[in-house]
Amino acid sequence: MLSADPCIGEVLLSDEQIQARVREIGEQLTIEYAGRAPLMVCVLRGAYSFLTDLSRSIDLPVEIDFIAVSSYGSSTRTSGVVRLVKDLDVDLTGRDVILIEDIVDTGLTLRYLRRSLEARGPNSLEVCTLLARESADLEGLGVKYVGFTIPGDFVIGYGLDVDERYRNLRYLASYEPQDDA
Ligand code: PRP
Repeated sequence: MLSADPCIGEVLLSDEQIQARVREIGEQLTIEYAGRAPLMVCVLRGAYSFLTDLSRSIDLPVEIDFIAVSSYGSSTRTSGVVRLVKDLDVDLTGRDVILIEDIVDTGLTLRYLRRSLEARGPNSLEVCTLLARESADLEGLGVKYVGFTIPGDFVIGYGLDVDERYRNLRYLASYEPQDDA
C-alpha cells in the first residue's frame, strides 16, 4: 500500500488544509475575474491536482489548457536549462491567462514560462501557485496568488513526485529516503 511507504514522512499540509486554502483562492479568483472567462494554464505534471481542485472552486466559465516543460538534469534538483516539452493548443491572444503551478522553487521554470506566454499577446497574465519556497523571490517573479509558503525540505504528494511516484497522495508530506531502499 502506498500509505505504508516508509519514504512518506511527516504530513506538512493535510488534505483538509489544502482543500480549504484552494477554496479560498477559488473564491478570490471568482471575484477578481468576474465577468471574464480566464484561461487556466496548467504546468504539467505537478500542477494537475491543484488545477483540478482549483478550477472546480471557481464559479466562472474557465477554460483550461496544458503546457509541459522540463529542466535538464537530475530529478531532485533543477539544473538551469528549461525546454518546452508540450505546448498549448489554445491561442493566448487577448486572453486572461492564469498560470497554475504546484511549486515555485528557484523560479527558473516560471521565468521561462512567463517569457514564453507573454510573447503570445495575452490581455493579462497572472501566476497562481499552491506552494512557494521561502527562498523564492515572489515579487520579482510576479507571483500574485500563493497557497502556502514552505521551507526547503523535499516534499511529495498532491501532485509532487519523486521519480513519478507519490503524486496521488491527497496531502503534502516530507520525503524521507530510506538508506537501505
Ligand atoms: C517542478 C514544479 C515547477 C518547477 C519549480 O516541476 O512543477 O514547474 O519544478 O521549480 P523551479 O522554480 O526551481 O523552476 P518538475 O520539473 O519537477 O516537473 P513535474 O511538474 O513534472 O514534477
